[in-house]
Amino acid sequence: MAGDIVSIHSFRGGTGKSNIAANLAAVAALDGKRVAVMDTDMASPGIHIIFGKGRQRLEHTLNDYLRGECDIGDACLDLTRELGIKKGKLYLIPSSMSASDITRILREGYEVSDLRNGFNDVIKEKKLDYLIIDTHPGLDRETLLSMATADFLFVVARVDEQDLLGTAATLSVARKLQVPDIHIVINKKPKIYEDADIIRQVETKFKAKVATIIPLLPLLIEAGSRYVVTLRHPDSPFTRKMMELYEVIQ
Ligand SMILES: Nc1ncnc2c1ncn2[C@@H]1O[C@H](COP(=O)(O)OP(=O)(O)O)[C@@H](O)[C@H]1O
Ligand SMILES: [Mg+2]
Repeated sequence: MAGDIVSIHSFRGGTGKSNIAANLAAVAALDGKRVAVMDTDMASPGIHIIFGKGRQRLEHTLNDYLRGECDIGDACLDLTRELGIKKGKLYLIPSSMSASDITRILREGYEVSDLRNGFNDVIKEKKLDYLIIDTHPGLDRETLLSMATADFLFVVARVDEQDLLGTAATLSVARKLQVPDIHIVINKKPKIYEDADIIRQVETKFKAKVATIIPLLPLLIEAGSRYVVTLRHPDSPFTRKMMELYEVIQ
């Protein structure tokens, strides 16, 4: 629990990674933990929007850090107070949504060792209990690095053959990288499926634990990534699912 890296992955986009990362962070911070969320989805960033930072200029981002223009601590936004978190801490290290920053990082790349140092430095500097990493779908460089350094890995998939077969690829890489604790999260489950059947099939096929199954929820659709659902609806079924994920990393 001291300084654990929790990586949230999926093979395909739109599975719910960013919303799960933001909400898991909120649940842990509400429990008094010191948490940072880092957006390593530099090609299509967005978790800052869930934290209500979509419409304002971000002073520093992960892009500035990777260009050597600021320290990782400077790119940490302290959201604790504005999110109404009393005991813990919640920081966000956003990725830039400016078109020129995105094309630049994709064109020029960066030193992957700088990102690794960023993980370690922010854990130390902010005395984090958890660094939660939101990732780009698929198996790109940031994803491999965050997997290689992860203490816990959640691979998110819908009940969809493309997602599930992609999950097999992700899991095989994660195992080669010797990630200690790997779990599958099934998200957006339609009512037609029974949880017990899915758990049995997925666990048999992938030889990995299903951490939780989250139904397709009108609450999430309604929220539309405009706020952190667990903070606004602490008694919702989604909050209960996030608590189940939190139990896995405790
Ligand atoms: N359980 C759910 N039920 C309904 N909609 C969901 C659920 N989880 C996530 N969503 C919605 O799916 C969309 C994509 O979620 P997001 O977290 O951005 O995925 P990713 O980061 O994997 O691309 C968002 O509009 C989000 O509100
Ligand atoms: Mg995302």
